[in-house]
Amino acid sequence: MTFAFPRAVLEQHTAFLGKTGSGKTSTAKLAVEQILAANPAARVCVLDPIKSDWWGMTSSADGQRPGLPFYILGGPRGHVALHDSAGKAIGELVATGDLPLSIIDMADFNAGGLQKFFNDFAPALMKRMRGVVYLVIEEAHEFAPKERAGIGAENLAIHNAKKLATAGRSKGIRLMVVTQRTQALHNAVLGSCDTMIAHRLTAPADQDPVKKWLKSNVDKMTFERVSSSLASLKTGSGWLCSGEAQVADLVQFPKISTFDNSATPTDGDAELHVQTAPVDRDRLRAIIGDAVKLAEENDVPRLRAEIIRLNAELASSGASQTVAAPQEEIDAAYQEGLWTGCIPSWTCSRT
Ligand SMILES: Nc1ncnc2c1ncn2[C@@H]1O[C@H](COP(=O)(O)OP(=O)(O)OP(=O)(O)O)[C@@H](O)[C@H]1O
Ligand SMILES: [Mg+2]
Repeated sequence: MTFAFPRAVLEQHTAFLGKTGSGKTSTAKLAVEQILAANPAARVCVLDPIKSDWWGMTSSADGQRPGLPFYILGGPRGHVALHDSAGKAIGELVATGDLPLSIIDMADFNAGGLQKFFNDFAPALMKRMRGVVYLVIEEAHEFAPKERAGIGAENLAIHNAKKLATAGRSKGIRLMVVTQRTQALHNAVLGSCDTMIAHRLTAPADQDPVKKWLKSNVDKMTFERVSSSLASLKTGSGWLCSGEAQVADLVQFPKISTFDNSATPTDGDAELHVQTAPVDRDRLRAIIGDAVKLAEENDVPRLRAEIIRLNAELASSGASQTVAAPQEEIDAAYQEGLWTGCIPSWTCSRT
């Protein structure tokens, strides 16, 4: 029998929980695959903050054929660069449906960039929201931690995550919250999820919020069964407990039908030969416009490469080998805190 998420589950917020490697990202991808198989016009936005885990959705399971036509913004597989100041623009594009399928890869952001992006993204999404969008929040404890680490605009990020969780559903935002650190996720976010999919959880502190959730959502017998099995669940299996759908089932989830990039070594040749969905980058650039332009203006490695190219051009034409970096580019690099000093052939007018 093929597995299908109950419809009622997919119409509410869902939490995908489990220790590292237990299968929660795969199960969230399975849900996205099912949503898009049932309705190819469905809209999905994935916030992928750390591990660039979602690009595999754009290829088939064997990596030989194109997969789902997600636009990837930022990160090592990005179709376009992404800057942490682009949150408002991207939030509006997701809200209005101009970016129907997007993976926002934040792996390249500096410390605090994730919160900065999210604090512009979330209010813009809420404000301009039309129709229905599934918002996957990977490593959700990074956006809505229970205990603050004091990084960047963390307080505001927690506020925005809580707002998305509590007021988002009525605006058409369906959250799919993924975390390996259940104990570190803010209670308000987990508490707003009508469905909980619990994979293997071994640490008692990570089991506690799940047990608490279960106590108020399932009967005593189910509570005992789930609680006693959490630590020994096999990879890819998990408890699907939903108040709205009235289910509490132990499910062996099928393998995803897109490319499983978390099973592939990241430095191997295999990745290079993966066939991904074609993307019209010009159209994407046109859609994103200023947000991407800003990212590229602040792309220091690209800037450096350009200066080196200019130096080579000057050298071959017999002119001085020293060229000044354009002041506005130096300023941009300074402002971003990315300035690491002059490369040898630059004349720096600032010290
Ligand atoms: N339903 C499944 N059937 C078979 N294999 C699975 C299934 N789910 C996951 N796996 C395997 O387990 C590996 C880990 O899965 P996944 O990346 O989804 O775990 P995770 O809980 O998200 O881990 P992390 O915390 O490191 O992000 C995958 O590479 C995949 O090969
Ligand atoms: Mg994962």
